[in-house]
Amino acid sequence: MAESKPRVWVSQPLFDDVVAQLAEHFELTCETQVRSYSSDELAECLAPLDGALVTLNERIGAAEIASARNLRAVANVGVGYNNLDLDALSAAGIAATNTPDVLTETTADLGFALLMATARRITEAEAFLRDGQWGAWSFTTLLGADLHGSTLGILGMGRIGQAIARRARGFGMRVVYHNRSQLTPEVEADVGASYVGFDELLAASDHLVLVLPYTPASHHVIDTDALAKMKPTATLVNIARGGIIDEVALADALANGRLAGAGLDVFEGEPKVRPELLALKNVVLTPHIGSASLATRRAMVQLAVDNLIAAMGVGPNAGHPPSLLNADALIAANTGGAIVGAKKNGATKTTTTKR
Ligand code: GLV
Repeated sequence: MAESKPRVWVSQPLFDDVVAQLAEHFELTCETQVRSYSSDELAECLAPLDGALVTLNERIGAAEIASARNLRAVANVGVGYNNLDLDALSAAGIAATNTPDVLTETTADLGFALLMATARRITEAEAFLRDGQWGAWSFTTLLGADLHGSTLGILGMGRIGQAIARRARGFGMRVVYHNRSQLTPEVEADVGASYVGFDELLAASDHLVLVLPYTPASHHVIDTDALAKMKPTATLVNIARGGIIDEVALADALANGRLAGAGLDVFEGEPKVRPELLALKNVVLTPHIGSASLATRRAMVQLAVDNLIAAMGVGPNAGHPPSLLNADALIAANTGGAIVGAKKNGATKTTTTKR
């Protein structure tokens, strides 16, 4: 009797031709609709599986993997992985992977698009025109702020932050940044950015862009106090995760002239967006499309597929997924092509990658 293939689940429609590569090695179940799963539903889905290809919609931690005795790998299609509890996955010997690098430039492009749209009030201007409010050309209609000659602040200086800094140089901006660790002088010179403390970043920025990973430490790091330290003429752009900003405090600052504008691609309760934000004119809103170019989204799925195949111990990179997040989850005991998940109990150390 032929040996059955490991079972793999793909949590939403991605690109069929890319995902089909998994069928060579695995028995595939691919969802044909985008939907959200409760914790119980996810636990039920994961229980019989050997591997899963998931997106940021799926929050996977101890409860969701409790019955998934054979689960060996979870490949996240996305660079941010706050939807995965790495400690829980590592403790269960489940490899976790993400998709860095391939989306860096595309996401930096979107960050820049939001910086420009927010500073120059592009969506507000379009709404003004479409609403028939453009009676006569006037010198003082919809005055915005300049990017050129201004100071751009970047909070979080990983790959995407650095790609934004490079773009800013072309716009004649001065760039300051704050990060957990300071870049080397060589990298600082290459991207043209200077390190400053957090408070100085807030005070100096004419435009501030958030590109840091979302962790318990970065939850609501932009709160009432932080906003009060910013210039009232400043704009704020978030392309990281919604939970980094206290959105109630932000809406209040925007409504009361304590901040000029915001460009938001991510929201704390997405896909729900707070009515307080929706009601404001000085906010540019996009539905989490940072990496959403066709080429980049395809590259992300390809990387996730490569990660999953390798993490499951097959294919040319067997045992060496290109972007493994928790090296300790695997003891790469490559027994006849199979990677053995390890450390079912006990503490594990995890590695992290920058956005
Ligand atoms: C998208 O937000 C990602 O983390 O890739």
